[in-house]
Amino acid sequence: MKVIAITGSPRQNGNTEMLAAHSLKAIAEEGIDTEIISLAGKDIKFCNACMACSKKEDCSIQDDFQAIYEKMKQADGIILASPVYYGSCTALIKAFIERAGYVARSNPQTLRGKVGGPLVVARRAGHNFTIAQLDLWFKIAGLIVPGSTYWNIAFGREKGEVSQDEEGLKTAWNFGKNLALVLKKLKA
Ligand SMILES: Cc1cc2nc3c(=O)[nH]c(=O)nc-3n(C[C@H](O)[C@H](O)[C@H](O)COP(=O)(O)O)c2cc1C
Repeated sequence: MKVIAITGSPRQNGNTEMLAAHSLKAIAEEGIDTEIISLAGKDIKFCNACMACSKKEDCSIQDDFQAIYEKMKQADGIILASPVYYGSCTALIKAFIERAGYVARSNPQTLRGKVGGPLVVARRAGHNFTIAQLDLWFKIAGLIVPGSTYWNIAFGREKGEVSQDEEGLKTAWNFGKNLALVLKKLKA
């Protein structure tokens, strides 16, 4: 079994990646393979509505999308992690999920039944809206989203600050544990 975390901050090794790594550590403890896939520095264009994916499970725009989509297909669990940018998920992860969501619609079995969920980091506000944005994506793509002990949010501004948010880390950890639990039950 494998769980991947796709992180949507354009800033490498920041709070989003730290939080995602924390959830993945909880999952790895349960004997499940994990991988972080950072979108930072990747070429991910936004959907241009060409609709080619309605005929074929692929995107007509050739960039870094394809390799990551392939990893989503292989994974049993998918975490989407984003910082809050102007009260929303980043344009980077939004571009990615627009395309992944639409490409997957041409083969609803691709993502259906996988387990996943969102993780969100912000300095001060916008977590809930961003969680909802990502959550809506999971629900329309047919994934199963386990809960935690709070909504999957954490606070932090400068790189590394999220490590001071004890409750945020605990929530991400418990989310990872619940994700692993659901995955193991599904695969039993
Ligand atoms: C362009 C931009 C917009 C931001 N907008 C918000 C916001 O609306 N609310 C908030 O609390 N923090 C906001 N932040 C702060 C980031 O969410 C915060 O620094 C976060 O920890 C960044 O995650 P990272 O370290 O993974 O890049 C913004 C940061 C940037 C660069």
